[in-house]
Amino acid sequence: MKRIKISELLETKGQNQEVKAMGWVRTKRGSKNVAFLALNDGSSIKNIQVVIDFDKISIDLLENVHSGASVAVVGKLVPSQGKGQSVEIEADTLELLGKADPDSFPIQPKKHSLEFLRENAHLRFRTNLFGAITRIRHAMIFGVHKFFNDKGFYNIHTPIITASDAEGAGEMFRVTTLDLNNLPRNEAKEIDYKQDFFGRSSHLTVSGQLEAELAALAMAEVYTFGPTFRAENSNTVRHLAEFWMIEPEMAFYDIHDDMDLAEEMLQYLVKYALDNCKDDLEFLHERRTKENSQKPQNERDALELIDRLNFVVENKFVRLTYTEAIDILKNSKPNKKKQFQYPVEGWGTDLQSEHERYLVEKHFKKPVILIDYPKDIKAFYMKLNDDDKTVRAMDVLFPQIGEIIGGSQREENLEKLQKRMSEMNIPEDEMWWYMDTRKFGTVPHSGFGLGFERLMLFVTGMSNIRDVIPFPRTPKNAEF
Ligand code: 4AD
Ligand code: MG
Repeated sequence: MKRIKISELLETKGQNQEVKAMGWVRTKRGSKNVAFLALNDGSSIKNIQVVIDFDKISIDLLENVHSGASVAVVGKLVPSQGKGQSVEIEADTLELLGKADPDSFPIQPKKHSLEFLRENAHLRFRTNLFGAITRIRHAMIFGVHKFFNDKGFYNIHTPIITASDAEGAGEMFRVTTLDLNNLPRNEAKEIDYKQDFFGRSSHLTVSGQLEAELAALAMAEVYTFGPTFRAENSNTVRHLAEFWMIEPEMAFYDIHDDMDLAEEMLQYLVKYALDNCKDDLEFLHERRTKENSQKPQNERDALELIDRLNFVVENKFVRLTYTEAIDILKNSKPNKKKQFQYPVEGWGTDLQSEHERYLVEKHFKKPVILIDYPKDIKAFYMKLNDDDKTVRAMDVLFPQIGEIIGGSQREENLEKLQKRMSEMNIPEDEMWWYMDTRKFGTVPHSGFGLGFERLMLFVTGMSNIRDVIPFPRTPKNAEF
């Protein structure tokens, strides 16, 4: 007999038809004559209730069925007598596929701390919480591809191994097959990467942008959505060493078109979640609301999860320049009262997440897009403004998150690009292919990068980025 997914069974009318379900037991409760199993197969946040009558199924078998065990059930789908579900299965046969010893199975039917679940990431998919996050993550990935496909963008697979440092930040993981105990040296006694696998020094990419630009300067509108790697030692709730980034790159777009696309995409994706992940979002909403109510008044979220999502979909983002933002921050209450960890002193410094969140959550109470950042704190490829001091950068700042998107209009003028590269010590000879696009048929173009896990943080209302990716990679942590 063919198995039917639990999500499908729950949508079906119970008419005594014979069905088969397979899944993992979430809970078992019972009395002398009958037991109830709550069965989940990952297809829904909701379990199906299986009614076990000891006249039909041996009580000895059931004694071995505990939370976490896997079973196959064949029985009749009937309208449920109990509250909370419309149908249930009256079991005719029960097969125990895999036991779960109640004394050693870590995921018990009670509330576990997120820390504990991180240490048990191989089993945390078995919880309601991580089931919900996993389904939403899938829906968001699908939504990203749908958004771009519907707009006629081409998906480009950009390389994961690279010899260039796209962001010029130098925080890269090395890729090598050299014997670390016996490194080859050249005449100058430096490590001889000519003998390495690629015949040169190579790394894991921090961004697919530079290659996406090559494609955009022929295909017009492209995007890449791949894993990116950063060896920055930031042990924060918003940083991963391995994360996924969505990077569209568009020929003929200026910074304003770029911002329009970023805003449209974020609103589309949040709406996609609201439309397609209703049950899971309701579960997360309730969870977050409960948590929120236990916090001191001044630390509570202004809006509960689903309201916050709707708010982003319904409100236009505020746009202003970095210079205007610095003025607001300098004169803000927390700055004057020295409540910022990093006081805002003057023009030219980078914004910290506390500043970004102040602008979004306290000052404007809306998502914010900042443009025209000082050139010294941004990457070499950003288009220089006429003031010679700022670049056509744009960062999208979100409530709870801070920076969710970073992007810019690109410098399409060869001479200006060369000047920036030499100022920033970016070796031109290694980037000849990038320069070629400015030599041959250059056009104004723009793009941005959306950190997928930052989006997931926002959509799920989770507070730690380690909980929105199945297997987080952070400093000193690469288990599983
Ligand atoms: O601002 P970033 O560094 O921009 C770039 O990499 C550009 N090449 C993008 C482009 O224009 N094509 O990173 C973009 C986004 C950030 O806004 C943030 O959401 C996310 O990537 N991000 C991280 N997410 C998790 N962990 C980290 N360590 C992250 N670093 C950046
Ligand atoms: Mg950035």
